[in-house]
Amino acid sequence: MKVLGIESSCDETAASVVEIDGADNCRLITNVVASSMDLHAQFGGVVPEIAARSHIESIMPVIDEAVQSVDWDDIGAIAVTKGAGLGGSLLVGVMTARTLAINKNKPLYGVNHVEGHIYANFINSLSTPLLADYTLPNSQPVFPMLGLIVSGGHSQLVLWRDHFDYTLLGRTQDDAVGEAFDKVAKITGLPYPGGPSVSKKALDGDAFAFNLPKARMEGKYDFSFSGLKTAVLRHAQEMCGKDFTFPSKMLPDSLSEAQKADISAVFQRVAIETVVDKTVMAFDEYSPASVVIGGGVASSPELRRQLADRLPIEVHYQDAKLMTDNGAMIATLAAFTATRGRPADDPYKLAIQPNLSM
Ligand code: KG4
Ligand code: ZN
Repeated sequence: MKVLGIESSCDETAASVVEIDGADNCRLITNVVASSMDLHAQFGGVVPEIAARSHIESIMPVIDEAVQSVDWDDIGAIAVTKGAGLGGSLLVGVMTARTLAINKNKPLYGVNHVEGHIYANFINSLSTPLLADYTLPNSQPVFPMLGLIVSGGHSQLVLWRDHFDYTLLGRTQDDAVGEAFDKVAKITGLPYPGGPSVSKKALDGDAFAFNLPKARMEGKYDFSFSGLKTAVLRHAQEMCGKDFTFPSKMLPDSLSEAQKADISAVFQRVAIETVVDKTVMAFDEYSPASVVIGGGVASSPELRRQLADRLPIEVHYQDAKLMTDNGAMIATLAAFTATRGRPADDPYKLAIQPNLSM
């Protein structure tokens, strides 16, 4: 069964076709992503109105490209992100998917973006040579599966006993981990998005040059990153010999390159330790058969290094192009939903859920 997946929850307009077979193998057939990231860079974060307008411009060309090599008659279902995400952005994807489902007479599945990030790990084969530059894992995750979702909007730790049978163990109580990287980049004057730029700068720094506090949470598996971000700000002001009244926008010109590198390295170590500590604790408590990570921050080499150091089993990763927002993860989750006979959504009624949780 082939599924068209549509994603528009944040700043990526994406569409993809994935095929699932009777043995649950998932083959990536096409994967098209248009990003409005460059338009947001000057603001240091995603501007919702700009993102929504970009989705309107890109969505049909992106879908057309994704289905170009596929016969519409072969598409068994249409999937779309219904939440969580930015309201205006989600609306563009959901209304487009609803219209297509009615027009092409296909079942429609509205899916949860955060679950989708984990399902990207089930894609295990490719339609070559179109996608020759993808490197996929050579096996699919097995249950029970511990999933860590770390992105610009989400930080969640989830235990799946089987498909659609899961427990949310913990989540961030304030900022997402990727958001903290983006804010630290702003403090140090590094380019947006902060994850890759802080990661790169950290290579020149000393991760133990100083220490930063980790939040103590009431929920055993919950996270918090807003205190860490403030601690970075205070430390940066101190490094410049200033107090907390010193405006943060003057920090990039006041800090030396060596100081920026140390801040990046220490922050990255502590932020990643925060999620890895909880992942290791959950692993010890639940003994999952696989550990799977998803979301933009899953591309972090520091995250992969710390997990490999501290877990006794290998962690499942996907190709970086399938870790950040894409339509394939949405199509894959819907493919499992459809093949397990779960009900489709009403194309006349499917609504966006900007605050959808797990
Ligand atoms: O999953 P994603 O594309 O979008 C959301 O659903 O949020 O994740 C984007 C986030 C950004 O915050 C970006 O800074 C972060 O992923 N990111 C990284 C790295 N690459 C991307 N964070 C840390 N280290 C990286 N190498
Ligand atoms: Zn995402």
